Amino acid sequence: MGTLSKRQLFLNHVGQTSTYPLMLEIEKAEGIYIYSAEGKRYFDLNSGISVSSLGHRHPKVIEAIKAQLDKHLHTMVYGEHVQAPQVAYAHLLSEQLDPSLDAVYFLNSGSEVIEAAMKLAKKATGRYEIIAARSAYHGSTQGAESLRSDHEYSSAFMPLLPHIKHITFNSISDLENICCRTAAVIVEPVQAEAGVIPPDPGYLTALRRRCTETKTLLVLDEIQTGFGRTGRLFAHQKYDVVPDMLCIGKAMGGGMPIGGLVASKSLLDQFTQAPDLGHITTFGGHPVVCAAAKATLETLLEGNLVEEVLAKEAFIKQKLQHPIIKEVRSSGLMMAVELTKRKYLKHVVNHAFELGALIDYFLFNNRSFRLAPPLIYSMEELGQAMDILLAALDFADAKYKKKL
Ligand SMILES: Cc1ncc(COP(=O)(O)O)c(C=O)c1O
Repeated sequence: MGTLSKRQLFLNHVGQTSTYPLMLEIEKAEGIYIYSAEGKRYFDLNSGISVSSLGHRHPKVIEAIKAQLDKHLHTMVYGEHVQAPQVAYAHLLSEQLDPSLDAVYFLNSGSEVIEAAMKLAKKATGRYEIIAARSAYHGSTQGAESLRSDHEYSSAFMPLLPHIKHITFNSISDLENICCRTAAVIVEPVQAEAGVIPPDPGYLTALRRRCTETKTLLVLDEIQTGFGRTGRLFAHQKYDVVPDMLCIGKAMGGGMPIGGLVASKSLLDQFTQAPDLGHITTFGGHPVVCAAAKATLETLLEGNLVEEVLAKEAFIKQKLQHPIIKEVRSSGLMMAVELTKRKYLKHVVNHAFELGALIDYFLFNNRSFRLAPPLIYSMEELGQAMDILLAALDFADAKYKKKL
């Protein structure tokens, strides 16, 4: 009996999320490229869903990880020991934000950050209702999953949390649903999985106003939009609103797993009493990961990567002209390319893969593909990657023309 291939072992022994995994066997990843076990090179246009904004294995991130490895790994659950990488990161981050957002509670993932935000909102306000926007994804833990508006999907996992209401993103009239019973409104400043829906002018300010009027906490989920993706360090800075809580994750760790709930110190301190230890985590704010996060943030602050995002967005939009493209929606390098017909989508994604470019689907939009390239692409490299996408669009177009 021959030995089983890595792919077969993957299918046999690794828990799966769908019956149709991409099965790209990774050998290594560097900069904007991912290399397969067969030695094929792919342009990464997803960044592992908005994670690898500095590309893969950024030298500053690797250096910071190695330096911390030589000092210490885990010593004690989060919040007990004073660990230099956490402290330095929290200080640097708070310097980039409105003075009211001066503290961070470190966690391991975006979903955990959303959980903590929901708990803190209930405790701080004494209210229990939470409002989220339709077609948003905030995570897969039970609290975060409760925020999902698609009940057909969540019915398999009932009962989820009660007292969750939904509003339509960009609907000013729906803001009336926020009232004195609402503990928090949790929204993304740019809706990601709905297929990149930027806020209409004035929407986020109207939302902020309504939350202030009703003493409801505004929680902005910047887990996808954060760390330069939209052309500012955080999207709320681009759209000129200040949340009461800011949820961050994904690109924060430069490829390492970390999330953070950012708020005022006094709000976060609600976790410390009545009851004390109101939220605890063993690994949140792991020193090696915080060192990586600090190197990531420093790299974004030192260079021009964030400033260059808007020019790169404009370049991609100008390059991506094709008869089967209906529109390109974007906020910086967070982009959705909507096709004229749904039937084209899988052919574009599959053929781009064949030609060496990785693009992806959205959870709640079946006509658009996702573009979220690492911010480090040069214009020349973006041009090469867009040429591949144009060839994939031609392929999908020709496939159906032949059938006529
Ligand atoms: C906007 C948003 N919030 C929360 C999450 C959950 O983050 P994680 O997968 O790290 O738990 C995601 C993940 O895709 C996300 O896109």
